[in-house]
Amino acid sequence: MSTQQAKQTRLREIGPGCWNLRAPFYILGGLINVGTHMSFIRLSSGKFVAVSAVDLDAEAKAEVDRLTANGKNIESVLATNPFHTMAFEPFYALYPDARYYGTPRHIRNIKTIPWAGSVADDAVLKMYEPEIEMRIPAGAEFNDPKPEATNHFSGLVVYHRASKTLLCDDCFSVHKDPNVLLRLATGATPNSIGFHWSLKNQALHKSPDAAKLFYGWMLSLVKDWYFENMCCAHGDGVMIGGARGALQVGLDKLKPSLDEFSVAHGGSKL
Ligand SMILES: [Fe+2]
Repeated sequence: MSTQQAKQTRLREIGPGCWNLRAPFYILGGLINVGTHMSFIRLSSGKFVAVSAVDLDAEAKAEVDRLTANGKNIESVLATNPFHTMAFEPFYALYPDARYYGTPRHIRNIKTIPWAGSVADDAVLKMYEPEIEMRIPAGAEFNDPKPEATNHFSGLVVYHRASKTLLCDDCFSVHKDPNVLLRLATGATPNSIGFHWSLKNQALHKSPDAAKLFYGWMLSLVKDWYFENMCCAHGDGVMIGGARGALQVGLDKLKPSLDEFSVAHGGSKL
């Protein structure tokens, strides 16, 4: 780590070439801070890909500027979750020269940004391979999730090979030491990874094959990507080491309820 990077307190280097920045995000009229995040991936070219966006306070802005040569090295900014939108216009005002790629909902709702493309397009998903791989969960609604207030499961899942890090927003969640309420409500255990509660209630298409499609997508993700670390948007947020195994354990715990979902919607067990 360089001396310059060692001075950074807000940007956390998760692994070689991948930095995560956490920021407050308040819900319920400012009563609860659920937190949010964005990440910066350094390509072998030296340019950076910003993954999502947060509001930058002065300290974080100074660190981003130091990392990216005052933003000149930010090549692109990727929107990830359809409902993580509020920081994009302020970020664009600070760094207007990057290429911005939106989710379909970003592109529909934010007209002030000249979007370079949609992250739902295959060509965009593949544009940084093999350094970065990107996927969108199968079997769940990504384009126009409803109800908008709560159906926040689906989003871009980003794998950065060099740092062995998986970046996502709401679909997965890291639980370091869940409180009693969370343990009772979700079955979360210490150092575990779970799934956004809207997955089974709202996000999965109510069709015979949705749960099977999603389960197959998950098995491929765990098989194909050798990640050790995970950064999620909310709650504890970051797991360093062991994330792939923890996600597999989480999937094993989820499977019986996916079986139930599948059967309830006219399909067979997975
Ligand atoms: Fe979220």
